[in-house]
Amino acid sequence: MPDATIDAFIAGLPKAELHLHIEGSLEPEAMFAIGKRNKVTLPFKSVDEVRAAYAFSRLQDFLDIYYAGAQVLLHEQDFFDLGIAYFRRAAADNVRHAEIFFDPQTHTDRGVPFAVVADGLLRAMAVAERDLGVSSKLILCFLRHLDEDAAFATLRMAEPYVDRIAGVGLDSSEVGHPPSKFAGVFKAAGERGLHLTAHAGEEGPPAYVYEALDLLKVGRIDHGNRALEDDVLTRRLVAEGKTLTVCPLSNLKLCVVHDMVQHPLKRMLDLGLKATINSDDPAYFGGYVNDNFRAVAHGLGLTRADFATLARNSFTGSWLGAAEISKNLAALDAYIEGGGVSG
Ligand code: ADE
Ligand code: ZN
Repeated sequence: MPDATIDAFIAGLPKAELHLHIEGSLEPEAMFAIGKRNKVTLPFKSVDEVRAAYAFSRLQDFLDIYYAGAQVLLHEQDFFDLGIAYFRRAAADNVRHAEIFFDPQTHTDRGVPFAVVADGLLRAMAVAERDLGVSSKLILCFLRHLDEDAAFATLRMAEPYVDRIAGVGLDSSEVGHPPSKFAGVFKAAGERGLHLTAHAGEEGPPAYVYEALDLLKVGRIDHGNRALEDDVLTRRLVAEGKTLTVCPLSNLKLCVVHDMVQHPLKRMLDLGLKATINSDDPAYFGGYVNDNFRAVAHGLGLTRADFATLARNSFTGSWLGAAEISKNLAALDAYIEGGGVSG
């Protein structure tokens, strides 16, 4: 029988978000407001026209608009505003911890200094922790459509911030840009003490997931949907307890799945994969993290027990230290034992 109270249960569930591109949280209203104050002209006349353009049939359709939108971001205050708007929205969804991607090359290639981007985001993270009680970590993403030398140059720019960056990731156009292209820079990042993750198996084949594991030595896989096409790979991901940062509404919007009832998340859980639910680029894909939870609750009939597992996976798959993970799990357990009612 469907659980009529599942939306309320999801709303109060303590959770972490592990797959969120901060540039993908730029709402059209903010795009226009920041564009206006920076005198950047957008290729759209109105907020409605922007939203109407968000009809994608593949990843590249989205990326073209996402990179265009990011052009309005020029100053430290812009990056602060972007970051704090996301954290406010996340806090409303009872996100207790967020690990956020940023794409420095999207900005440094336009002449915006790395420090401007990082300082604005780090200031938003500090305010979120202080005022909203949301902890966070920053993940520097390399753009895979660019070459490895450019990724190395970005890692060098990040050097003064390396103690404030938790890890590196790999995003942008997947097909034709396999993880093997970035083996050297991931090795260097790992030697620098950074955590490692990569988008793999969103549109790309299972071979890209193998490469992310074997050549990049990642601890997490971002998306990972297409790993399910390979039973040996699936069993390996289960055995190694690799966290998959799954993004249901993103998958729907980018036609990775054609209907939420066909989304592989339930199958992932049934197979014992350590899946989590995330929003990816919420301003572009029609929802923040709880919208994603609700979409799979209604599309796949996931239960409270499934959502408790997903929330648990989000904390244990995070890059928080053991004490912070335990603290978050204790809050999660208290919520579940209290019958799913916020205390
Ligand atoms: N950059 C922002 N969102 C992305 C996604 N879903 N896949 C690859 N690159 C991205
Ligand atoms: Zn992503």
